[in-house]
Amino acid sequence: MSHTTTASPVISAGVRTDFLSHRNAAELVASVGVIECLRGMSLTIEADFMRWHDFDKSARVANHSQDGVIELMPVSDQQNYAFKYVNGHPVNTRHGLPTVMAFGALASVATGMPVFLSELTLTTALRTAATSAMVARRLMRPGSRTMALIGNGSQSEFQALAFHGLLGIRELRLFDIDAAATRKLKANLAPYDLDVVCCGSTAEAVEGADIVTTVTADKAYATILHADMIRPGMHINAVGGDCPGKTELAAEVLQRADVFVEFEPQTRIEGDLQQMPADFAVTEFWRVLKGEVPGRTSEQQITVFDSVGFTLEDDSALRHMRALAESAGMLEPLELIPELDDPKNLFALLGTGQRASRAAALPARAATPQPEVTAL
Ligand SMILES: NC(=O)c1ccc[n+]([C@@H]2O[C@H](COP(=O)([O-])OP(=O)(O)OC[C@H]3O[C@@H](n4cnc5c(N)ncnc54)[C@H](O)[C@@H]3O)[C@@H](O)[C@H]2O)c1
Repeated sequence: MSHTTTASPVISAGVRTDFLSHRNAAELVASVGVIECLRGMSLTIEADFMRWHDFDKSARVANHSQDGVIELMPVSDQQNYAFKYVNGHPVNTRHGLPTVMAFGALASVATGMPVFLSELTLTTALRTAATSAMVARRLMRPGSRTMALIGNGSQSEFQALAFHGLLGIRELRLFDIDAAATRKLKANLAPYDLDVVCCGSTAEAVEGADIVTTVTADKAYATILHADMIRPGMHINAVGGDCPGKTELAAEVLQRADVFVEFEPQTRIEGDLQQMPADFAVTEFWRVLKGEVPGRTSEQQITVFDSVGFTLEDDSALRHMRALAESAGMLEPLELIPELDDPKNLFALLGTGQRASRAAALPARAATPQPEVTAL
């Protein structure tokens, strides 16, 4: 059974916000099955890309710091507004935190009422892999069976399983500068019918691969893939170069390929594309889906998906997870927005009489904000 969700409105009559915790999201994905969840999410994202012009789109707002970035990503159509908060801090794993952490919400456009708040750390890994598979289905050489997977961290299992479960990849060739990450990935993939080969370098991993996925994390102009590693007919799924000053592909790789992107204005700033002149030709992928332009045109063509992650995918993923969680009874009510007898009387929330006079008697110290505490 395929778990596809429709792009139905999320308008809610009452003052109720549903919450999906990371614990419930994980339980839900495990019970549906990762591959089945990826399949449904991929179909939901594809259905939304087919409605490209229905959405009010913008590049995300990014706040950069020395070691990372924090981004806000909004999108809306006539019914739903969605946003995601996400960071990217490659140094985080040294502090015991994931590189990428996220949460997000869905709201009704008609009222502005936030109807769903969700974890998006796990969901981002799913939606990124589901998007990669949606794109590769149109761009990879038919009959592709081998994928090199460079960067074996948090995103990697999801990428591996999307390409295996949705596109028929049978052999994975792994490389990471951290051998422990590769061992972790190999162990997590053990239950699946995959030939997994651990390699000693990117060049070795890429040798003989039909598809190359790069999903490394380093806030640097890195060059993971050099032009001499690329063979005619390869599809390159470049996922890790997703913010200014952070790349994975040599410029020559892009020059030799046809390059496909999600939302061009964002990818020009954030993708591997940031290295190329402003007039370097790229194709927004929705045009391939709609049949306006071809995807792969020959066996020899080299294709690149310069993935940076677009908020429309998060909107689709939020609605997909909400629908799954609703049917599994896994949504929890969240007291986020007050329900008022008189919507003009917000002050009534504070209570009257006794409570107010008790607060007035409290020592001033209790109302003084404490200094900010840093976790790291
Ligand atoms: N395009 C998107 O939509 C999207 C979505 C999510 C994450 N990302 C990006 O994907 C990347 C990976 O995310 P993650 O959550 O898996 O991070 P992670 O920190 O869990 O894993 C990254 C891995 O890359 C490895 N690595 C770093 N430099 C390398 C190199 N030169 N060669 C080989 N391996 C190298 C690290 O050792 C680490 O194991 C990040 O850059 C993140 O920002 C993109």
